[in-house]
Order: sequence, then structure tokens, then C-alpha cells
Amino acid sequence: MKETFLWGGSTSAFQFEGGGHEGGKGPSIYDRREEKTGVTYSVASDFYHHYKEDIALMAEMGFTAFRMSIAWSRLFPTGEGAVNPEGVAFYRDVFTELKAHGIEPVVTLFHWDMPLALVEKYDGFGGKGTLRAFEQYCRTCFAEFDGLVKYWLTMNENNLGLLMPSMYSNRKRSKDDPDYAQYQWNSYHNTVMAHFLAVKACHEMIPDAKIGCMMASALAYPLSPDPRDVRAAQAHNQQVNWDELDLLATGHYNRRMEKAMREAGVTLETGAAEQAVMADPASRMDFISFSYYYSVCMRDGENKNNADAQTIQMMYAAYENPCLQKSSFGWTIDPMGLRIFMNELYDRYRLPVMVVENGLGVKDDVLTGDGRVHDNYRIAYLREHIRAVNATRAEDGVPVLGYLPWGCIDLYSAGGDRTKRYGFVYVDFDHGCKRYRKDSFYWYKKVIASGGRDLD
Ligand code: BG6
Repeated sequence: MKETFLWGGSTSAFQFEGGGHEGGKGPSIYDRREEKTGVTYSVASDFYHHYKEDIALMAEMGFTAFRMSIAWSRLFPTGEGAVNPEGVAFYRDVFTELKAHGIEPVVTLFHWDMPLALVEKYDGFGGKGTLRAFEQYCRTCFAEFDGLVKYWLTMNENNLGLLMPSMYSNRKRSKDDPDYAQYQWNSYHNTVMAHFLAVKACHEMIPDAKIGCMMASALAYPLSPDPRDVRAAQAHNQQVNWDELDLLATGHYNRRMEKAMREAGVTLETGAAEQAVMADPASRMDFISFSYYYSVCMRDGENKNNADAQTIQMMYAAYENPCLQKSSFGWTIDPMGLRIFMNELYDRYRLPVMVVENGLGVKDDVLTGDGRVHDNYRIAYLREHIRAVNATRAEDGVPVLGYLPWGCIDLYSAGGDRTKRYGFVYVDFDHGCKRYRKDSFYWYKKVIASGGRDLD
């Protein structure tokens, strides 16, 4: 029987694609960031000029899927209005090339690169104009790439939206602003509506396709068996993981979210039309995709600004897990957490799951004289996480659609650091983005050829 499990890798346009000033692309918020910081997002890994070579490398590893995002401002230079035919042609070429190599594109509609014009005009997802533009953009994607793309993802890591409401805007709000909570919930609600509108349009326009959300897993354990710590971990998991998924799965804000809005004096700007979209069964996703890098520990008490707290991620003041090792970036290495998380997801929502980000980002990759990178540390990390995926599928019976580790060909980190590398392929950013196969490239090829069984 043909193996349908998707093996591959994952990227996003602003971190990987480049070609920022070509093909009629309009600026996104990352072009503004480039002006301010000098990080050359407009070049990134230059997939724009290397895509044939990159797809050949993916095919050599045996990929059956590749996750990428569409740069909204390549299709619509100002985010709305007339479509840019060169943008459509570029993505059509890429998808056709992938299909020709037996690789399914898994396409994220929104991976953070908000068109700059929409920030200036509507304050990003702070305004309803952006929502209208997003629906037009999605409908264009579904019409133009019908038959080429079977798997769509909506909003990258949308569950972090409430924690970082100014993420897609250039106007940072302070928590001291009197309208902060209203702004925070309005923008969040608009991103949730963006998800529903995309799912509904996809189901109506291309019923054969599958569309899912994309969330950042933020699995928390209690720091001790003290029930108060257990409750602290539960509260974190509810707030960061389950509240949003409850909303996407049902079309309703749950009681915790309702209470949070009530207490903050927030009234959502929804009308009958939006409520109808939320309630429509056609707006329900087909699967849940997620990123998984680490787990955290929580304990009772005020975690935020606690002098003892070891902050692993800027938004969670979490504690170190004494049972786990950390990467050089301080992220815990917890393959069992991946299995735990997928079980939780499936038990709660009964939807297939897809791992669309995982991996070890390190500064240790060194290109040797023979054009190789000896990245045994990456192999060791991935081996254990793939074991966890195998166990989740075989022993726990969870339907896992695929495993697409992050940054399969080196790319820029989310914060613009090009020395933090994840890939099976090394990109020499200083010399024309030349590509080199790392040791993990040959290892992953063997893993895929054996259907994940040969992990040595
Ligand atoms: C996820 C994002 O949060 O984590 C990616 O979807 C990001 O865009 C990835 O690159 C890894 O984080 P970082 O900071 O190592 O790039």
C-alpha cells in the first residue's frame, strides 16, 4: 500500500523566499523591519532564484511534502485590489515543480508578512478592511492554485495573537494604553475571523482540498506534584492552547474567554454576517497543524516577573524542567512532550494532526573544507522526535498526517538571525546563498526511504 504519511520540511516566505524587490512584489512589514534593522529579508535564502535546485534537493531526500507560505504582497502588492500576475505565475511554477517531483505543497496563507499598505490603511488586523482584503486574497489563491495545492494552513501560530496583539502592525501598543484590551481582542478576533473565512471559502471553492489551523504548541507541565502547580500548568494550557482551539473547533468563545473580555470591559465588533460565518459548519477546519519545539514548567503564584522564574520564551515566564536538557538557545528538548501533545490534541478535538514545525536551531553548524556540515546533534534531536511521532501513530492510534520539520533548508530565524540554523541543507548566506548537503541530509533521506523505521 502506498505510504500516505507526509515526510518533508517547512519554511515561510519572509524567512526563506527572498526576491523582495522582484516580480512586482509589494512591501510587507518585514521590508519596514529591513529598513530599520538591516536584516535582508528581501534576500533571505533566495528561494525565489533557487527553487528548482531546492526542490531537486527535497526530492533527493525523498520529500513527499513541502510547507511554504505565500507572500500576500507578492499576489497583491498593496494587500488588496488588482492581483499581480507575475506573483501568481511564480507560485504556480513552484507548485508545478513540486508536483512534478511528487511533492505535495502544504501552503500557509498567512505567515506574519502583512502587506505594509494594509498596516498603513487599516492598522493590520486591527481593522476590518484587512479582513476583507484577506478574504479576497484567499479566494484568489484557491481559484488560481486549484488542482496544485491540496493542503492549506490558515494563520501561523494564531494562538499567540492575544499575547502579542501588535505582531502584525507597526504601531506597538503599551499595556498602559486605555484602549489596549479592546485593541487586543479586536485584532485577535479579526485573525480568528480570517481563519474562518479562509476555511469556509476553501470548502466552498475546492471541496477536495483540506484546510487546517496552525498553532504554536505551548505544552506546560506542573513544576511539582503540588496540586497548585498542577492547576497553574492547566491554566497555562487552557489559555495558550485550548481556548483558541475550542473557538476554532466550535465557532464560540468559551466561558474563560467570555469572562476575560467581560472583565476587561471589551465588546467585540461582530455583526450578523460574522456570526453566521462563525456558526457555519463549512467554517470548521479539517485538521490541526502545529509547531512543537519545547515544553515548559509552571508553578503556582505570580510567574510573571518572578525573580526565580527562568523565562524560556518572552511571553511565558516559565520554569526550567529539571528532567530535561536544553538546546544552546535555552529551549528544552522534550520528544515525549510531542507525543503527549498530539494525544491531548486528538483526545480533545478528534481531528487528524500534522507536525509542521519541529527541529533544533543552533549556531554550531560549521561548513568544512569538503563542503559538509557534521551535524550529529541535529540527527540526535530529530531521531527522538520521529520516534515520538512513530509511537503516537502506532501505539496511541492518533492519526498523524505528516512530519515537516522547520527550516529544512537553512533560513532566517523569526527574529532575523541567520546564524540560527535548522536545515538539512546549509545555505552560505555570504556567497550567493550556495547550498551544501549536511550529514543530516543523508540521514533524513534514509529515514524517509524506510518510512521512519531506520533511525540509526
Ligand atoms: C515558529 C515560527 O514560531 O518558530 C517560525 O512559525 C519560526 O516562523 C520558528 O522561525 C522558530 O523560531 P526561531 O526564533 O528559531 O526562528
